[in-house]
Amino acid sequence: MRFDILTIFPEMFNNLINTSILGRAREKRLVEINLIDFREYSRDKHKKVDDYPYGGGEGMVIKPEPLFEAVESIGKTNPPNEKTIYLTAQGKPYEQKKAFKLSKLDRIVMICGHYEEIDERVRTVIVDEEISIGDYVLTGGEIPAMVVMDSVIRLLPGVLGDDKSAHNESFVEGLLEHPHYTRPENYRGLKVPEILLSGDHEAIRKWRRKESIRRTLKVRPELLKEFDLEEEDRILLEELKVEEGLKSTRRYE
Ligand SMILES: C[S@@+](CC[C@H](N)C(=O)[O-])C[C@H]1O[C@@H](n2cnc3c(N)ncnc32)[C@H](O)[C@@H]1O
Repeated sequence: MRFDILTIFPEMFNNLINTSILGRAREKRLVEINLIDFREYSRDKHKKVDDYPYGGGEGMVIKPEPLFEAVESIGKTNPPNEKTIYLTAQGKPYEQKKAFKLSKLDRIVMICGHYEEIDERVRTVIVDEEISIGDYVLTGGEIPAMVVMDSVIRLLPGVLGDDKSAHNESFVEGLLEHPHYTRPENYRGLKVPEILLSGDHEAIRKWRRKESIRRTLKVRPELLKEFDLEEEDRILLEELKVEEGLKSTRRYE
């Protein structure tokens, strides 16, 4: 898979793409990351990429030509297995489901905005999709691009040591993940739940399932509304209802 990232701050990506899982994925050639400083495509003698907004108002707008020309220079032709994404707070909220979809593509071009906005013509002509990483405004699209890229790359076959780990995580099934513990068994009097030391795999599976539902119920109850509860989950939810003092599970169905 290949990422082409259009940014005026390519150096911001250095740590991320050379470290940990992403660094190893690049070394193993499972992913190629191409950073394009679109300032290089500015026609201005001072390499300025922004200008005042037509109609007046605050802030500067990134001009269309550096972005159009940078995209043309990387040979983007729009086949179905490629997408050009603009990271913007006005885009569709990003979710794990979307990360899975994007991980099936061969190539993703990401445009990182800055200042007040990018020229609307880039959005209407070049961009296939707009993604927001949350309902807040950041200074630039670099951090959102890193978020999307990281979440997609770890889903690519061979990137994680154990490919199954990406499929057992929060949001994959629609629930938050269960709690985790490691050695020591007793840390400052805080003990690991005994069931995890029992060696009883079925009891451990059930405990994890229940804790996963408990965590989702407490923190993100809206996720349970969309979650397809199996018979075992319904029983666990009934138990949780008693334990947590909730009146009814119906609102989660
Ligand atoms: C200061 S912001 C511009 C905000 C814009 N004026 C608005 O009201 O939506 C500059 C750039 O940061 C990026 N950005 C900011 N917040 C974002 C978010 N929540 N998700 C994705 N990109 C974001 C976009 O690329 C945007 O062009």
